[in-house]
Amino acid sequence: MSVDVILGLQWGDEGKGKIVDYLADQYDLVCRFQGGPNAGHTIKIGGDKYVLHTIPSGIFRENIINLIGNGVVLDPITFIKEMNVLDKSGIEFRSRLLISRKAHIIIPTHRYLDKASEAAKGAAKIGSTLKGIGPSYMDKTGRNGLRIGDIDLPDFKSRYNTLKEKHLGLIKMYPEVDFDLEDQETAFFECIDIIRGLRLVNGEYFVNNALQEGKKVLAEGAQGSMLDIDFGTYPFVTSSNTISAGVCSGLGIAPNKIREVIGIAKAYCTRVGSGPFPTELEDETGEKLRRIGMEFGATTGRPRRCGWIDIPQLKYTIMLNGVTQVIITKLDVLDSFEEIKVCTNYAYDNKITEELPFDLVGVPIDPQYKTYNGWNTTVDMVSTYDNLPQLTKDYISILEQHLQTKISMVSTGPERHKLFSL
Ligand code: GDP
Ligand code: IMO
Ligand code: MG
Repeated sequence: MSVDVILGLQWGDEGKGKIVDYLADQYDLVCRFQGGPNAGHTIKIGGDKYVLHTIPSGIFRENIINLIGNGVVLDPITFIKEMNVLDKSGIEFRSRLLISRKAHIIIPTHRYLDKASEAAKGAAKIGSTLKGIGPSYMDKTGRNGLRIGDIDLPDFKSRYNTLKEKHLGLIKMYPEVDFDLEDQETAFFECIDIIRGLRLVNGEYFVNNALQEGKKVLAEGAQGSMLDIDFGTYPFVTSSNTISAGVCSGLGIAPNKIREVIGIAKAYCTRVGSGPFPTELEDETGEKLRRIGMEFGATTGRPRRCGWIDIPQLKYTIMLNGVTQVIITKLDVLDSFEEIKVCTNYAYDNKITEELPFDLVGVPIDPQYKTYNGWNTTVDMVSTYDNLPQLTKDYISILEQHLQTKISMVSTGPERHKLFSL
């Protein structure tokens, strides 16, 4: 069978977790293919709210296998904390949670380095989540990393020490920051012991065998395409390939196995951390979006920057990912806006264009907007497309026309059931 992909089309936090949880029961396997605990995927079921960082968002669906793929960087400490939350909630998941032996490990000094390196950058900082993502992917590509499969090697501890010593050498180059290494190291090895008792697999064989047996696979992305290491707003990006190409290298599946690429976008736009954001609203309207949308980071609690939806940006990421359908989330957040703006073009370098410049960081963009009437009523209780206010339907079809891509579903609230097909 084939693989479908769910990924973010903006700067992350588009509502991927909710959509993966909702659609997961149509699949046999849900697999995270990149990123690490920088991700925060929120799922609301009944009155309960969960935030997943490493565990795939299919975990709440009975009988569905969840795989943490080789493209993920796993922090044993945050991962075990997540497992403990699920245990406390009485969710049976251990037999359904698998980790690829080729996934890389975040060790405490990766977080230490992240913190020190961000402190050294001062005002030019990336605004990292400080979860050790950059340093751990650097060790992966630098061929120094430790992988989950290594924890069973007799010399794991000595490999760990070699890597730690290398990090401690590097840390001397940076300003001093607070970090309780001893404490973190104790917790780290306790968590490694727990991980030894979990289901560690050769993920690439596991997924391909499942496909051969006719199973359906859903690949879950983290972050958003504008944070992609190659195509995002470099250097204000994360350190992995967040686009659909990352599915192949992050799970070990061939491109011809990918069928649907489902791109998730908010009805407006947000970004957390530093870096360019052409449609950002640093005014009362931006403040209103943040307040109604409750736009505060699921991982760090930081306020998210807010702005209008950006068509050139979305067309760029639809192109990069080969998106076959778009799901629009948080439509309800626009309920009380008299006017809704849509950025349809960028003006820069004396031209008006839909094309992003080489480097969004260096080019001041003047976003060109079209203004539409808001629907000024709540869509909260609506559960079919037909029952949406006409102006809401108009907004969806305006987006569809601009994006030239089918909008297959819309989400009108954080809860699992507040999602419907068009
Ligand atoms: P992710 O990282 O893409 O999974 O998204 P986050 O969980 O970081 O952020 C999305 C936030 O929006 C979470 O708090 C969700 O509960 C919430 N959310 C998701 N869909 C909707 C929606 O349609 N309406 C509203 N109001 N909130 C939503
Ligand atoms: P989910 O999966 C939003 C941002 C950080 C920072 C930059 C680099 O929940 O959508 P890193 O910790 O990777 O070194 O941070 O990327 N960032 C996210 N923003 N959602 C995320 O994940 C993010 N993961 C990282 O804020 O600007
Ligand atoms: Mg998030």
